[in-house]
Amino acid sequence: MSEMSTKSRELFHYQHDSLIFNGHALFDHVAVKNYDQPLLLHSSELVQERINWVKEWKNLGQLHFAVKSNYDETILKLIQKNGCGVDVVSLGEIQLALRCGFKPQDILFSGVGKTEKEIRFAIENQIYQLNVESISELKRIVKISNQMEKKLHIGLRLNPEVDAKTHPNIATALEDSKFGLNTRDLSEVETLLEDSKYVILKSISFHIGSQVMDTSIFREAVSKMKPIYKDIKSRFSSVDRFDLGGGLGLNYRDHNTANDYERWTQLRQIYEETLSDMPDYFLVEIGRFMVARSAVMVAQVQYIKKTKNKTILILDVGMNNLLRPMLYQAYHQIYPLKLRAGKHSYMVVGPLCESSDVFHADIELNILHEGDFVAIADAGAYTKSMASNYNLQPIVKDIYLD
Ligand SMILES: Cc1ncc(COP(=O)(O)O)c(C=O)c1O
Repeated sequence: MSEMSTKSRELFHYQHDSLIFNGHALFDHVAVKNYDQPLLLHSSELVQERINWVKEWKNLGQLHFAVKSNYDETILKLIQKNGCGVDVVSLGEIQLALRCGFKPQDILFSGVGKTEKEIRFAIENQIYQLNVESISELKRIVKISNQMEKKLHIGLRLNPEVDAKTHPNIATALEDSKFGLNTRDLSEVETLLEDSKYVILKSISFHIGSQVMDTSIFREAVSKMKPIYKDIKSRFSSVDRFDLGGGLGLNYRDHNTANDYERWTQLRQIYEETLSDMPDYFLVEIGRFMVARSAVMVAQVQYIKKTKNKTILILDVGMNNLLRPMLYQAYHQIYPLKLRAGKHSYMVVGPLCESSDVFHADIELNILHEGDFVAIADAGAYTKSMASNYNLQPIVKDIYLD
């Protein structure tokens, strides 16, 4: 089979009237047959396929998987087995990564609010890299490393001040963002580093936001950051890796994986072109693109309620398990597990006591009846990892398809 034919496929289709997700007939799955609460069905094969894509990327030093996108231990262990690292943002995520077999030297620690306890843990365990996001944080790190008399490798997360053209709630590189240092902070940073015996600058890092669809924005960010990287390296010879963050988006309305592959290839080409003269190691911190496609949420239609202008499908899963539509107006396609003839426009909502617990204000679906099952697509990233126990509704149960 050619490389493209293994990668180009529709993740969802119907065989007769039954929904197939990546080769699995969901309605016939034993977990659906014995359904008693909403499910999250994972296909590890899809994650493995994406890891393989990344491994084809010759210039890449290391993929640090952004753990915040998916906390599933089976998936994390698979990523670890493939020799990847992790990008984490809390002690909780560090402990999860260690439990899943990652070593401190696989850990890149980002986040704007690192506590003293977290910084001490990072130094004590000699993690791979801690990305600094503010002057105050750097001062705290210098003080703690002096007290502990132990070295720490850091990266500077610098804000390239580009507009990622994504939802404002997931754009992270604008001038007044809480994330990252600005270039005007650099002279103070350099003075602090020159005075520190233990804090070693290894990397310059940027992350422009998440669900970034236009790959040319990555080109713009690299062209702004590369001269800064070279300039800093000329004064700090310890700098030897360029951290390009994550953020590559995907089209949640399109489930042909060839189009994901095309977007990934565009990014890879941008990096290969723009960084070909840089012998340094480079890192990426990708979350969504690795795992979003790898899971579907299965829910049951509890009630169908007719109002003056709407037909409302009330599901047993809500924003406690899938917050993205409410937080970012994100789109998640809904597929009935069994296809009935005819179409109808529905408002699709969850059971929570919040008016904003709405997945779709108006979506056309094949006719559904009370008791029918639906699959909510692309539920592998920023879904269960964002779950809460609000209303004490159950958190989705994990099921592994392969
Ligand atoms: C610092 C950092 N790196 C990496 C990521 C991963 O982003 P994505 O899941 O969009 O690839 C995030 C998420 O926003 C992040 O904040």
